[in-house]
Amino acid sequence: MCGIFGFVSATGLPVRAVVDALRTLEYRGYDSWGIAYSNDERLIVYKQAGRLPGEVPSLPSTSVALGHTRWATHGGVSDENAHPHLDCTETLAVVHNGIIENYHPLRQALEATGHRFRSTTDSEIFAHLLEELLRRSEREAHGATPVESEMRVVTAVRHAFERIRGLNAFIIMHRPSRQLVAIKSTSPLVIGIGRAGVFVSSDAIALVGHAERIYYLRDDDVALLSAEGPRLFDRCTGEPRPIRWEPLTVHPADTSLGGYPHYLIKEIHEQPRVIERILRERLESAHELAELIAKSYGTFLVGCGTAGYAALCGSYLFSRIARRHVNAVIASEFKYQEHFLTDRSLVIALTQSGETVDVIEAVQAAKRRGATVAALVNVMGSTVSRLADFAVPLSAGPEQSVLSTKAYTAKLAILLLAAHFLNGSEHVGLDVLWRAVEGMEVALAPATLDRIRAVADRLVAAEHCYVIGRGLSYPTALEAALKIKEATYIHAEGFAGGELKHGVIALIEDGSPCLVFSPLDETRPDILSGAMEVRSRGGWIVGISPEPDEAFDVHVPVADVGDASPLVSIVPAQLLAYELAVRRGFDPDRPRNLAKSVTVK
Ligand code: AGP
Ligand code: GLU
Repeated sequence: MCGIFGFVSATGLPVRAVVDALRTLEYRGYDSWGIAYSNDERLIVYKQAGRLPGEVPSLPSTSVALGHTRWATHGGVSDENAHPHLDCTETLAVVHNGIIENYHPLRQALEATGHRFRSTTDSEIFAHLLEELLRRSEREAHGATPVESEMRVVTAVRHAFERIRGLNAFIIMHRPSRQLVAIKSTSPLVIGIGRAGVFVSSDAIALVGHAERIYYLRDDDVALLSAEGPRLFDRCTGEPRPIRWEPLTVHPADTSLGGYPHYLIKEIHEQPRVIERILRERLESAHELAELIAKSYGTFLVGCGTAGYAALCGSYLFSRIARRHVNAVIASEFKYQEHFLTDRSLVIALTQSGETVDVIEAVQAAKRRGATVAALVNVMGSTVSRLADFAVPLSAGPEQSVLSTKAYTAKLAILLLAAHFLNGSEHVGLDVLWRAVEGMEVALAPATLDRIRAVADRLVAAEHCYVIGRGLSYPTALEAALKIKEATYIHAEGFAGGELKHGVIALIEDGSPCLVFSPLDETRPDILSGAMEVRSRGGWIVGISPEPDEAFDVHVPVADVGDASPLVSIVPAQLLAYELAVRRGFDPDRPRNLAKSVTVK
């Protein structure tokens, strides 16, 4: 997965615009970066391993440029493997998002015909494959009309794309014609048009400030961007087709830090407002979702990582509130369990980005079997939002930190509302969620923060941390542990409280930190005795609970909000992960090895 961006401008634009755009796309990958632009004589490429630097050397203006921020899949993280990649003649520059699954035989064949490779990536193959196809079409081009010559690059890109397997998106720069070509399969690309030129990017967010109107490329499109403007063609036939523009609605202010030092802490603090927005704007959607569930014969919540934990929490919510069995499945495992889907099944995809390839594949599997697909998705316009029969926007605003926080609680709020609609008790759902908004405010207030900071001081040098919860709080324990792992690199594990004594308790030793989620529900007696068992073996217990207890060494109080407890209890754990990341000197927004959008398998 990676971020790609390019522009063509008749009047010229500073190359710096590409670097600035890449900064907004860095959430998609940040192990290396690179740019290419055309000057009067040749292609200039600058690329290197590592994060984008704060300052880049002075760059000129140009009529055509592109760039890439990488999350390596094939080939180590090195300057050579950073994109863009060039062909042998250095007239083509390619940036790529995805995996060319048949890269090995293609590379062998190209090397056998004399192509010289400079990197060990799969991506570079596309540049050489195109070079090969263009050379052949040049030989055949005698007597071609100017229009046919102009289309040669598009045709070669279409044919090269047919030869590769996998889910891929490319932007190709052809220096002689000063054109960009964009093509994709599943991985996202959006083109935009503005006063200064035409643009293409993995995410509309990078088009803010450049484009007024945008168009999300479809898998059967190929786009040609030139000084004359953008043109669209059918990927299979090459026939021209109209572009159905829509306005760009992402607001620049949405992506700013708004005075916070990091996006993670900003987004943690945004959560009460997000839940309020859902309560004001998404009741109808939650109601419709409940109706779909009522009609279905078998409902599956699917998601990955944090969204997978939201799915698990959803299955508890539907069980206790609506007495309905709703399955929670990790999206990457779903295709191994799809066999019993029918046209009466309902698959609800949970995804912040809407671009997680495992989720997309689950959705595609569901559609193949005729199931209805709903989605709770934050990025509208994303692949999942467009594939779904019914998409509910999470309304959380752009989530910039790689760590998901506000999209998680937004999903929980919508699932809780849907469960209450299904049960005919929506007034109860509204009541607990409004209480949750207040509870989140309390969890974010200075008094709670002081307790969390004291816990962070104690945990800062910890190597391991255990997190337990039961029932509704079991997914909370898993999610809290994930937040701590991602932000701090401390080995944190979440467990169902009852499972501890079946093995994990062997790990507990003197001083082992253990976070315990203990809301005032039926899980309380059992989770507290589990906490006592850990404490008796030397464990240091942090109780996140509305009430204190003798089992706790430290009590972090949270509001009692009934079935909405997962929305409130997770907040102190998110804050703890943030405080620990800062104390340990890590960037909480960009953990190592991760990317925000996991668009590869
Ligand atoms: C969690 O903080 C994330 N890093 C990750 O687990 C994320 O939730 C997962 O990759 C799914 O992403 P999505 O919601 O965009 O599909
Ligand atoms: N497979 C390519 C690489 O490893 C692209 C990965 C990506 O999507 O970032 O460079």
